[in-house]
Amino acid sequence: EELLRSRGVLAGKRILVTAGGTREPLDPVRYLGNRSSGKMGYAIAEAAARRGAEVILVSGPTALTPPLGIFVKKVETAEEMRQAVLTEYAACDVVIKAAAVADYRPREVAEHKIKKTGESLTLVLEKNPDILRELGALKRHQILVGFAAETQDLLSNAKEKLAQKNLDMIVANDVTLPGAGFNADTNIVKLIYRDGSVEELERMPKTRVAEIILDRVCDLLTKKG
Ligand code: CTP
Ligand code: CA
Repeated sequence: EELLRSRGVLAGKRILVTAGGTREPLDPVRYLGNRSSGKMGYAIAEAAARRGAEVILVSGPTALTPPLGIFVKKVETAEEMRQAVLTEYAACDVVIKAAAVADYRPREVAEHKIKKTGESLTLVLEKNPDILRELGALKRHQILVGFAAETQDLLSNAKEKLAQKNLDMIVANDVTLPGAGFNADTNIVKLIYRDGSVEELERMPKTRVAEIILDRVCDLLTKKG
């Protein structure tokens, strides 16, 4: 395995991938979560390792088995993901943020299980830090790749995220399409670059989307020199 690593096109590169969804606790038995399966991020991590990269996978809870030969850091909340990613960031050449990070968390985490006393229950949520935006602001030599999950105005929303988060590429997917997004084994994505160019990919397995994303990351690394 070490031999393969030393020969791959990404040999000597350190790549951090985030995957899965975060869980934001509400009380000792409940959390707010999302439908991310982690499949896209795990496929990217595995493909990067096969190309010889040193891979760090920061993963929310998933049902997936982590690929061999990869350093896996398991996290639950957005704040834990943020800490894990920021710790590794300076030493990374590439960061690919496939994780579905909760935008909000419950303002208070109840010490005990919340009892069903009232006819309704109001939760107060507060904003989580935008990890990718922080990475964009701190960016030096890194190639930064984000995802955009949209249900409308895919291109304009994704282009805005690319600019606001200072990314090199964004993988935009319309999660309402059949065969795309959460939990599917396939995805339908558009790759958008800083110069505004858009590459539309047909529906294909997430494993193949992962390979194409890494092809483009290799191009970006080469261009950077
Ligand atoms: N992201 C992040 N930290 C957050 C929220 C999102 O790092 N708190 C990252 C995701 O991992 C993804 C990208 O930002 O790579 C875009 O996530 P998305 O949910 O599509 O966009 P948001 O910026 O959160 O905006 P909104 O959900 O309002 O569309
Ligand atoms: Ca979001």
